[in-house]
Amino acid sequence: MTTELVAHDRAAPAWSIPRYLEARDGRLHVSGADAVELVRKFGSPLYVFSEPRIRSNVARLVGAAESADRPVRFCYASKANSNMAVLKAVLDARIDIEVNSGGELFKALRAGFRPDQIIFNGTSKTGDELDDAVGAGVLSINVDSVYEIGLVEAAARRTGRRANVTLRLVPEIGTRSHIGLQTALLTSKFGITHSEVQGAFRRALTNPDLLNVAGIHIHVGSQTPDVEPFAEAFRAMWSHLVELHRETGHTLSHINLGGGIPVNYLRDRSQADQLPQAEREMLGASLEPSEVFKAVMKIARESARTAEAEHLLDRVTILLEPGRSVIADAGVVLTTVRNIKQRPETGDVWLLTDAGFNLLLSMTTYNWYYQLVSASRADAPPDTPYKVAGPLCDSGDVYFDIEGGGRLPDYRNLPAGVQPGEVLALLNSGAYTLAQSFPYNGRPLPAAVMIREGGRADLARRRDTYEDLLTSDIW
Ligand SMILES: Cc1ncc(COP(=O)(O)O)c(C=O)c1O
Repeated sequence: MTTELVAHDRAAPAWSIPRYLEARDGRLHVSGADAVELVRKFGSPLYVFSEPRIRSNVARLVGAAESADRPVRFCYASKANSNMAVLKAVLDARIDIEVNSGGELFKALRAGFRPDQIIFNGTSKTGDELDDAVGAGVLSINVDSVYEIGLVEAAARRTGRRANVTLRLVPEIGTRSHIGLQTALLTSKFGITHSEVQGAFRRALTNPDLLNVAGIHIHVGSQTPDVEPFAEAFRAMWSHLVELHRETGHTLSHINLGGGIPVNYLRDRSQADQLPQAEREMLGASLEPSEVFKAVMKIARESARTAEAEHLLDRVTILLEPGRSVIADAGVVLTTVRNIKQRPETGDVWLLTDAGFNLLLSMTTYNWYYQLVSASRADAPPDTPYKVAGPLCDSGDVYFDIEGGGRLPDYRNLPAGVQPGEVLALLNSGAYTLAQSFPYNGRPLPAAVMIREGGRADLARRRDTYEDLLTSDIW
């Protein structure tokens, strides 16, 4: 028995995750569902999500929070993936939700989240969106500027409901993530600066019948590989909470650390050496969420003691808004090789798939690395380099760094002899993919399936039809 297990482990591909992502009988299986069969049944390309993996990702976060001695609430950042079946899986995993628009608010409510489970973020909220959020009675509206305080007051007046508000701080904290994913720099568009925030709090406290000033918020960015930015963010928020109490007597009830817990996109490091070091460290981040809580609570306790403000900490709930860490590695994009060509001049073999950057936008905007494996021959050695590209009519629709910056491998390693019809899988692609997809080049958006415990595949999104391409056009 033991020998068998060892032998199996030795043969398992480096990307595999026991009981979730496995090579079985030579084919990729997602939570027990055969990926090639899924494509046969639901078509290609196909988004595949795993409910058991979502649940275990949530359990990992919730378990990590046990090391904090304050109550912690997780509000899933639905921007990462707001497919209704995904929202339902998150709801069933018993955490709360963060929305970034009226549309995401609508979807969260429709999925069954109670208003008091919902945080509303955004830089450019409209009056209608604020009316919907305040009228519903959400847990918090995270206010992005001093000006917006007046907008929320107006919504509270219109709807006849007191709004819970949190001020978003932009504290000038850098991270080692992609610059497009850093959100706490003064050069980023978000939040209220250190110098403004106490004034903003005083302004928000002027109409207590309209606003309940509940908390302070920072989001340092996505895919943050280190603990320090979270710790620094907490320290910054805590000092403002203490100062606010000292100046006004007002106590905040929550500190919101935002999202950004990273995902390890390089569990299989076979092509990691081809990425620049900074990219490798960011994408291969192994930061444990429990480390974040330990660091934050250490600062919290020390700072509370120094400021003789332990009683303030005792009233605080810590909020987090994880997106990527819930859904990224719970999703796979399946794609089929549709065409092949060999360039005599370069000797390159090109594989042309049916999944372009309209389905995985980050691959082109941020040169994001999604590992590509063969789903049809999941345990064949990936020993042959290929140029791989999608179906769109742009030279930028490729699985390598078109600008030659080396931020993606120039070639993808797959088994020898890939032919049209072979199903490939882009791993760790559950976050910021379907949510950012668009039907460019008249390509109807793909179907999505949710794999349940035991391997049953439920349709989570029907494939768009050509008729869907016309639904909003008027002629
Ligand atoms: C305000 C806010 N919270 C949470 C998130 C989720 O971040 P992540 O998916 O990295 O956890 C984002 C995304 O950037 C965000 O803008």
